[in-house]
Amino acid sequence: MSHIESILHENRSFHPHPEFQASANVAGPEHHQSLLEQAAADHTGFWAELARQHIDWHKPFTQVLDESQAPFYRWFYDGELNVSVNCIDRHLAQHANRTALIFEADDGTVNRVTYQQLHDQVSQLGNALRRQGVRKGDRVIIYMPMSVEAVVAMQACARIGAIHSVVFGGFSAKSLGERIADAQACLVITADAGFRGGKTIALKPVVDEALNMPATDCVRHVVVYQRARHPVNMVENRDIWWQDFIAGMPSVCEPEWMNAEDPLFILYTSGSTGTPKGVQHSSGGYLLGAIMSMHWVFDAKPASDVFWCTADVGWITGHSYVAYGPLALGMTEVIFEGIPTWPDAGRFWRMIQDHKVTTFYTAPTAIRSLIKLGADLPRQYDLSSLRLLGTVGEPINPEAWVWFHEEVGHSRCPIVDTWWQTETGSHMIAPVPGALHTKPGSCTRPLPGIHADVVDEQGNSLPHGEGGYLVIRRPFPSQLRTLWNNPERFRATYFPAELGGTTYLAGDSAHRDQEGYFWIMGRIDDVLNVSGHRLGTMEIESALVSHPAVAEAAVVGKPHDVKGEAIVAFVVLKGPRPEGEEAARLSAELRNWVGQEIGAIAKPDEIRFGDNLPKTRSGKIMRRLLRTLAKGGEIDQDVSTLENPAILQQLSVAG
Ligand code: WTA
Repeated sequence: MSHIESILHENRSFHPHPEFQASANVAGPEHHQSLLEQAAADHTGFWAELARQHIDWHKPFTQVLDESQAPFYRWFYDGELNVSVNCIDRHLAQHANRTALIFEADDGTVNRVTYQQLHDQVSQLGNALRRQGVRKGDRVIIYMPMSVEAVVAMQACARIGAIHSVVFGGFSAKSLGERIADAQACLVITADAGFRGGKTIALKPVVDEALNMPATDCVRHVVVYQRARHPVNMVENRDIWWQDFIAGMPSVCEPEWMNAEDPLFILYTSGSTGTPKGVQHSSGGYLLGAIMSMHWVFDAKPASDVFWCTADVGWITGHSYVAYGPLALGMTEVIFEGIPTWPDAGRFWRMIQDHKVTTFYTAPTAIRSLIKLGADLPRQYDLSSLRLLGTVGEPINPEAWVWFHEEVGHSRCPIVDTWWQTETGSHMIAPVPGALHTKPGSCTRPLPGIHADVVDEQGNSLPHGEGGYLVIRRPFPSQLRTLWNNPERFRATYFPAELGGTTYLAGDSAHRDQEGYFWIMGRIDDVLNVSGHRLGTMEIESALVSHPAVAEAAVVGKPHDVKGEAIVAFVVLKGPRPEGEEAARLSAELRNWVGQEIGAIAKPDEIRFGDNLPKTRSGKIMRRLLRTLAKGGEIDQDVSTLENPAILQQLSVAG
């Protein structure tokens, strides 16, 4: 690891604009430094104080952190709360009529929901779920398009203590079925269909197919929100329309009081091997992470901000910064159904103008695609409402950073490049924008109370300038508690014995510059980052190999201008290697196959057929070589350990 070298030399740095700094929640380096010092002096006391200040507890906690079962940490573990009460009810006395959600649909239709209305809708659905027999601790799958109802569904589960697991609406029946079976869910909430870029995306038929898979008979009911008047087949005694489900339900719903450690949700994410991992989050610690990052990183001003995070609720970003964080602070936020490039590449900029968005949080891949489609388009819109910009999902290349800063932020708005993960629940390394200067491509420094470090294989801290494993040394409230049904995998993946068993291994490599700023260099495992979404190469390979014609497959990433990484699959067929038209036909077939098995985001961009794959004499596929071939590079590594060096020539030709 220590030979990982950074090729990026970025020396520009940007200081907070005085106007921004003057009103920032953390104003200036001294304030920031004092937070860091408080956290360093008394780690648990620091977090306990914030938890008391920022969360409404039904029963206040007296215990802060239990490390006795490390790495199974517990925070605030004799306290009781309800997350939905913290996100909704506590704002009603003062701000019942404040807009909570501004929903803009794919076709541009806008719908506003106040905190009072959100409360009533969440309560009605909560009551309906209870009447249907859903109890505290039961699992509910949410497979919905971006909508007010998706947020209502998540909040309703939180209200009655059911554990939700949102599955992104782009996942296939097979992926959905596996998640339903793993979570042993009793109920699925879905919609007939959703809209994306003018197209109708069917959802309910996918649920029907998923429920034909093994071990899914745990599901007793399917609630279907009618969004698109898309024809669906309703199964008697199992399926019910959302509108009928909530009819006549009271708009008051007694919250279930939850222990701080009771799970709030499970969210499946890709790992390097095997099936997706069910990342399990807590109620109290998770909520605290979402709240503090809204306050520190997004500099949230609930009374005046219009917050817009463009993520889908199917990802962690849509959990922490759509469904929970902004609501917990009583913010007004925009929710968006659709894609940034439809009806044209001005969609984001027009929405910022129309809704007077102050805080805009999106993915580098979206920024890159919008630069390509219209670098000067933002100039046609009034973006003067903006005061803060943010990015997440992958490192942002300095060129895109500077464009975002100048063309969208008019050199006035700080950019917060936020490093975090599904597993960390909330931002870990990110600028506190009124206090820190930023550098394009760096996520800057760990937040107060987050002890991030860069280490070697033995866990020794590396000096600034050297690349190594990114770790977090001390437990923090918003971290995952375990993997659903798989505590051993949790321990082995995130708290490996080599690092002492209590240090969190993020799975990314990083280095620090002389100022202690962190620069993320990429994943250390076989996980691709395609358009800001994590995909396990293993999952794509298994999908390919499950096709009757395929004998063997290896998947690697190659750099891609817009998506970050593109997927290249090297495939060996059971029959002879196809050529010409036959190869093209099979490529198309295999791409669709992967689309069906996993979802469209996992479709390989390129498929190369070979008679074999490059392997060591012990039979291990040499992925390093495949990565070089995928990029179109020359192999200059030593190939003497290779069983079949001749194969490299054949695989070097793009199909
Ligand atoms: C990558 C998304 C560089 C990283 C919240 C991480 C980033 C993975 C950044 C988590 C960033 C996320 N700079 N890399 N600002 N943000 N990543 O679980 O590799 O979907 O481990 O969570 O995305 O992806 P996940």
